[in-house]
Amino acid sequence: MKTELNNPRDKIKVVTMNGSLMPLNKAKVSVTAPGLSYAALVFEGIRAYWNDKLNELYIFRLDEHLVRFTNSMRLLKFSEFPDSSTIKEDILKNLKANNYQEDIYIRLQGYIDDWGEMALQTPVSTSIVSYPRPRAVAFKEGKNFTVSSWQRLDDNASPPRIKASANYLNSRLASIQAKESGYDGGIMLTSNGKVSEGPGGCIFIIRNGTLITSNITSGILESITRDSIIEIAKKFNLKVESREVDRTELYIAQEIFYCGTGQEIMPILSVDKMLAGNGKPGEITRFLQNKFTEIVRGNNKEFNEWIYPVYQ
Ligand SMILES: Cc1ncc(COP(=O)(O)O)c(C=O)c1O
Repeated sequence: MKTELNNPRDKIKVVTMNGSLMPLNKAKVSVTAPGLSYAALVFEGIRAYWNDKLNELYIFRLDEHLVRFTNSMRLLKFSEFPDSSTIKEDILKNLKANNYQEDIYIRLQGYIDDWGEMALQTPVSTSIVSYPRPRAVAFKEGKNFTVSSWQRLDDNASPPRIKASANYLNSRLASIQAKESGYDGGIMLTSNGKVSEGPGGCIFIIRNGTLITSNITSGILESITRDSIIEIAKKFNLKVESREVDRTELYIAQEIFYCGTGQEIMPILSVDKMLAGNGKPGEITRFLQNKFTEIVRGNNKEFNEWIYPVYQ
């Protein structure tokens, strides 16, 4: 039976293709587009949070997402793509046209359109699909992870810094393997055996009160949530280290969490059945979740530069 929750598509009034609004069923891509046939496609997942009291929808760190989107297109040698201000306007128009008054996920894509070979650099098309996406249940409850036998991609092969759909084959393999083995997710290691990241988010561990996360040369996507957590932690005088992380540190950490736009801050209760602390979401994780929630929803003035009001 269909429910509102598992069919967010039903709430989409319009999507955006190359700046034009249209119903979802009219937004089509050709089977010959290199974006499809050679995965010449980059994307962003962005969240917008509804504040009931202020009657406002806030997009979280929109400018940073647009910078990363542009960098992804530049790194894949796309040419003649729309600038960030045009895309920003398109996102605002899309959200306003849908008139959302709830928490939203925005999927922005840029891809090589039309027809041609794998190294084609143009034409670049863009699409924006936004839909309701409430916070995951695991935000509160947490998840159990394993270390994947799938190795994380390397920067000199298929750079994880580029948010390209092609990189998600690596994530898909790790994700399916973890689920088939009875876990909720898999943590991938670099070719040097250091902790990289999960299929769709970065990893933080907490040891003796210090937050530790794999550095940006450990095959991770340069996560905007990861950066936000580092900044929030520093603001509240928590110690943070961004460095190489050993696999065995996962097994002796007092707290672990997974972070990203989709997960926000999700407690990891165990890795390979080794409990993080007592196997319950930890105190520092809960503190960061609370601060993060305040900030993204527009209830913490000190971080207002991170949120962008849609309706004003
Ligand atoms: C592989 C991967 N790493 C990290 C992240 C987290 O990045 P962000 O916090 O910018 O969403 C994501 C999610 O978008 C991801 O897919």
